[in-house]
Amino acid sequence: MIVVKIGGSVVCKDPTKTIQNLPKYADRAVVVHGGGCMVNDLMRRLGLEPKYLTHPGGLVSRYTDWETLKTFVMAMNWINKQIVASLHALGVPALGLTGADLGVVKAKRKEKVLIVDERGRQRVVDGGYVGRITQIDADKLLPPPLKLLAPIAVSEKGELLNVDGDQLAFDVAKAVKAQKLLLLSDVEGLYIGGKVVPHLTAPEAEKLVQSEEVRGGMKRKLLMAAEAAKTGIEVIIASGLSDSPIDTALNGAGTHITP
Ligand SMILES: Nc1ncnc2c1ncn2[C@@H]1O[C@H](COP(=O)(O)OP(=O)(O)OP(=O)(O)O)[C@@H](O)[C@H]1O
Ligand SMILES: [Mg+2]
Repeated sequence: MIVVKIGGSVVCKDPTKTIQNLPKYADRAVVVHGGGCMVNDLMRRLGLEPKYLTHPGGLVSRYTDWETLKTFVMAMNWINKQIVASLHALGVPALGLTGADLGVVKAKRKEKVLIVDERGRQRVVDGGYVGRITQIDADKLLPPPLKLLAPIAVSEKGELLNVDGDQLAFDVAKAVKAQKLLLLSDVEGLYIGGKVVPHLTAPEAEKLVQSEEVRGGMKRKLLMAAEAAKTGIEVIIASGLSDSPIDTALNGAGTHITP
């Protein structure tokens, strides 16, 4: 089994190459997607301004109030069904889901979160509608049919919750006992000193999370990769924009993180 995460950066730029490569893996993959940029686009059209929180350690997450959650769920479902439709045209009958469907991804709302404010001081703020994943129903995610999962979970109280796409992909990989987790985004891999790093061990990846050269979404990817590698899952950070991106990543392209 492999888990393929189609990053929001791929979704918004051009997911065609990744989607075209999926049919080959339809009987042994679970797909997770992001879509942050499309959420922001829809928010702005609705007159809302996207907000982000910075956590100690430098990880950044979307502040998800009620209006943001609504937009998040709308944009993610649009993306989900667009990919399902594209797969249909390639002869793959896929099932697009959020974690709420069949209760495949359960989460607990993060009621309070620790942030670092503009002045660099740590503060506890309301967590909004963001979830910490507590349970994944692996049986329902195994193919056939190929499952395509949006980064939305459901709480015991029946709340829809925004969950981080990389975190979800890692948790799904663990749950379905995948050998490999592919994190596809708009960069060829992890860049350090202007070059793609071909291979990292989990401890090396963990150390690099704090590097000045690792910013934005790459920080979380690397942290997730280190955690996944420690559990024996090989993580590949690679581009989803190149030709046959899944084939080339499995054949050595990108950054490979192993225990
Ligand atoms: N050292 C680095 N090497 C490579 N990319 C880096 C590095 N530091 C920061 N980045 C940024 O990380 C980005 C990829 O992560 P990002 O979270 O933006 O994409 P994604 O995960 O595909 O999208 P989403 O989070 O919406 O699913 C790249 O576009 C790049 O700008
Ligand atoms: Mg990201």
